[in-house]
Amino acid sequence: MKTELPLKTLLSAQRIRDRILELGAQITADYGHDELTVVAVLKGSVLFFADLIRAIDRPVMVDFLEVSSYGDETKSSGVIRITKDLTHSVTGQHVLIVEDIIDTGLTMRYLLENLRTRRPASLRICTLLEKLPRPASTADLVIDYSGFIIDDKFVIGYGLDHKGYCRNIPEICYLEVP
Ligand code: PRP
Repeated sequence: MKTELPLKTLLSAQRIRDRILELGAQITADYGHDELTVVAVLKGSVLFFADLIRAIDRPVMVDFLEVSSYGDETKSSGVIRITKDLTHSVTGQHVLIVEDIIDTGLTMRYLLENLRTRRPASLRICTLLEKLPRPASTADLVIDYSGFIIDDKFVIGYGLDHKGYCRNIPEICYLEVP
């Protein structure tokens, strides 16, 4: 049993696995011989990140930062905070930011602005899920690698939480609101 919550499967573990292999192959091809620093945005991206880096056939460095904007709420507060910063400098590095979901895009816009000030050689984004449409303020965000485009559902599992729980569900589900 997954949980007592009324959950419906949106993306099965197999579909997620297959898509990650495609993303990994695309990233491997795109970066050529460049070394890559892959940055996981904690906490939601951990499962995706762990599977994605194993699908990239290149030397990679990893680093982690933690951002919070939702707390226990289902809507973004709009106030983004870095609660854990990178351990290493990314100046001159090819950086790939890995997210579980880009919803309003406010977190990613903030991260791009913040990381650009550290002068990486390049800065790209890979997200497992992308909610569309985005608000006008973030509609122009360029997402380099996007696993799945989804509509406006509250999704959990495979790293995404509901009040801190459900991250260990191996597939992506949505909460059925009666
Ligand atoms: C989630 C997700 C992204 C952000 C996306 O993080 O992991 O970082 O929200 O939302 P946005 O596009 O509307 O800004 P959350 O704050 O829930 O933290 P978590 O990853 O630790 O669960």
